[in-house]
Amino acid sequence: MLIDQTAFRERGLSTDTTILGGYAIERTLEAVRDGGLLGTGAVRRAGLVGPGLDFADKDAGYDFYPVQSIQPFALLDALARLGLAAPDGAALATFDVNPRINDHLAAAAAGAAAGAPYRLALPRNTDLPWNDRLAAYWERLGDAVGQATGDFAAPPNAGNVRTRGVAVRPEVVRSIAPRDLNIVLQRLDPLPAGERFDLIVATDVLVYYDIFEQSLALANVAAMLRPEGIFVSNTSVVPLPGIPLAQAGQARVSYMPVPGQGEVHDVLTWYRRE
Ligand SMILES: C[S@@+](CC[C@H](N)C(=O)[O-])C[C@H]1O[C@@H](n2cnc3c(N)ncnc32)[C@H](O)[C@@H]1O
Repeated sequence: MLIDQTAFRERGLSTDTTILGGYAIERTLEAVRDGGLLGTGAVRRAGLVGPGLDFADKDAGYDFYPVQSIQPFALLDALARLGLAAPDGAALATFDVNPRINDHLAAAAAGAAAGAPYRLALPRNTDLPWNDRLAAYWERLGDAVGQATGDFAAPPNAGNVRTRGVAVRPEVVRSIAPRDLNIVLQRLDPLPAGERFDLIVATDVLVYYDIFEQSLALANVAAMLRPEGIFVSNTSVVPLPGIPLAQAGQARVSYMPVPGQGEVHDVLTWYRRE
């Protein structure tokens, strides 16, 4: 069962997020690395379009922990774990149209400048039959960028849930630079050659847009990538002639079985800047 993304189109620009997107990105970056398209230490500058803000967990609706943004930290964690981050760490620019998200990440960076870690709450509904790899991902998510701080206590009516706490190291939080940028209409331009991105990621973002808008977004992403840089998306878009991106691979990432319906899964596509 492929996650039905078409439902998003009617909902306005939602901010919601879960750890599943982080898991899918880590599996995909592993495939990109194993295919030889990104080598050890290759990612000095990464971009994340639409980092999202978790007011309540997208799957189970949990809201017993503070508002958080998970994906920037999950991406930095994956880059470190997979050996893709540059030796002195990867810098991450986030691009979003929503001021609440940009302000939230700017406040996190300001807190980190004063020495504060970023505290993640990572819920897992233990009634869901997550497959072993996803469960193992949840168990170690954040370990490459921070320290586990023990489980959050959940209210009695929350059902069967475990919520791992992780404190992300301040120097990692400081490596995140939030930008107010609409990827359909804008790009960082001009970007000197040495400041172009090695990797740009967008999950559950392009699904909100029609093919024309998606193509504009692809052109903006391509303009910000270095030659041979990689773009990862879970919405597959065929690049129009003239957009210097070529589809380079796809990964099918499974999350859990659904009796009689196969697997809940997502398909991520990666593109290479020509
Ligand atoms: C549904 S959330 C997805 C969050 C996260 N990427 C994930 O996969 O869990 C969509 C995110 O994309 C942002 N967004 C939507 N349209 C955008 C655009 N044109 N440019 C930049 N960000 C956009 C939203 O504000 C939000 O942060």
